[in-house]
Amino acid sequence: MTFLKSVQTGTLAALAVFALAHTAVATEPASPEKVTHFEQLNLSNGLAKTPPMGWSSWNGFGVNINEKLVVETIDAMVENGMRDAGYIYVNLDDGWQRYKGSRNDNPLEYDPEKFPRGIKYLADYAHQKGMKLGIYSGPGKDTCAGYTGSGGHEKQDADMFASWGIDHLKYDACCSHANEPADVVRRDFLAMSKALMAEKQDVVYHTCHCGWANIWEWAGDIGANHWRIGQDISDDFDYPENREQYYFDVLDMIDRGIELSKYAKPGQWNDFDMLIVGLDGKSKTLVGAGASNIEYRTHFSMWAMLASPMLVGSDVRNLDPYTLETLTNREVIAISQDPAGHQARKVRDDGDYEVYAKELADGSYAVALLNRNGTTADITVNWHRDLGLPWEKVAVRDLWAHEDKGNFEIPYTAEVIGHEAKVLLLRDAGK
Ligand code: GLA
Repeated sequence: MTFLKSVQTGTLAALAVFALAHTAVATEPASPEKVTHFEQLNLSNGLAKTPPMGWSSWNGFGVNINEKLVVETIDAMVENGMRDAGYIYVNLDDGWQRYKGSRNDNPLEYDPEKFPRGIKYLADYAHQKGMKLGIYSGPGKDTCAGYTGSGGHEKQDADMFASWGIDHLKYDACCSHANEPADVVRRDFLAMSKALMAEKQDVVYHTCHCGWANIWEWAGDIGANHWRIGQDISDDFDYPENREQYYFDVLDMIDRGIELSKYAKPGQWNDFDMLIVGLDGKSKTLVGAGASNIEYRTHFSMWAMLASPMLVGSDVRNLDPYTLETLTNREVIAISQDPAGHQARKVRDDGDYEVYAKELADGSYAVALLNRNGTTADITVNWHRDLGLPWEKVAVRDLWAHEDKGNFEIPYTAEVIGHEAKVLLLRDAGK
């Protein structure tokens, strides 16, 4: 675990290999004002009323996945309390398929060496344990890692996924299709959405397109439950050198998605990518030197504030106590899972010191005081100035200290250490 950013040994080499494989380009920050008009369809599967929570294989394991890993992951999540804290989905990402290459040449099947008892066995196993199983495919002839895709076979594949008992599909157009026009991307995602909805089975639908084609403007309307707002996350909190390349660090991801708050609502979420908490720079898939405990905690807090899906990417079979405590903080999870489904807005920006606020269903507010700087600073939230609230006296609770701080008539100031986010719950104490 490193607190200060260390030199990212190996990062550039790994990046070069990945970028070659994905032929990807870095994009400018999201431009939500650019509206593309499509016929409104208002399709909805009625699922994911709060941001999906679970585990996904990609960040920690890449294509090196198999039955044993998935069974052990499910068992671990039951035993370590993650399932009961809300992490229900166990999602296979790319690499479960048998064949590489175009779908024109090979069928879509599971790899019998990696999954000797098949995918249905795993879905049944997950269901017996009170969890759900997710799978991955894409609208291309092949997927991002080069396995056979679903393009042109949507109904056949949706039938197969349903027969296995699949509960979540990440459908990935890959970060290499940056230049596809939005209508083509939308058409392809819509084909799978309709195929899934035709099944008598609930499948949460993730349309993954690296934040291109202004996907947030139309994905919810075609029945998607979440969509990525950017390219892949790196295992970094703040690594600007990486930003012109392929991967986005935590702060960069926040900056790219913060303007998209209005697109998040129950059933439809901006996806800031899978969590890097606990990867500690050891991922064989992602670049990055890892982040400190406090930086991972900040990342987790901000994903909760931003109502992003919470899909853990680390090896949950071996979590250290601090990381497990981070992932299972029920007070912060309650912010993520608040039924009103608002994504936080940035209400104050004093350079490195920022205040984010999210209105909760009961009228209270979750507030994050984010220190982007590496040194300790005081950050203040003023409910009149920052939130426009008429409250005279405010009850403040610190959701990481699990402590009521008291009732305040004057703005509340907290000492926030470098790269920390204090997460507060504000209530009208006059009520
Ligand atoms: C893309 C996605 C990742 C992962 C890989 C799998 O890069 O953005 O999240 O699914 O493909 O190949």
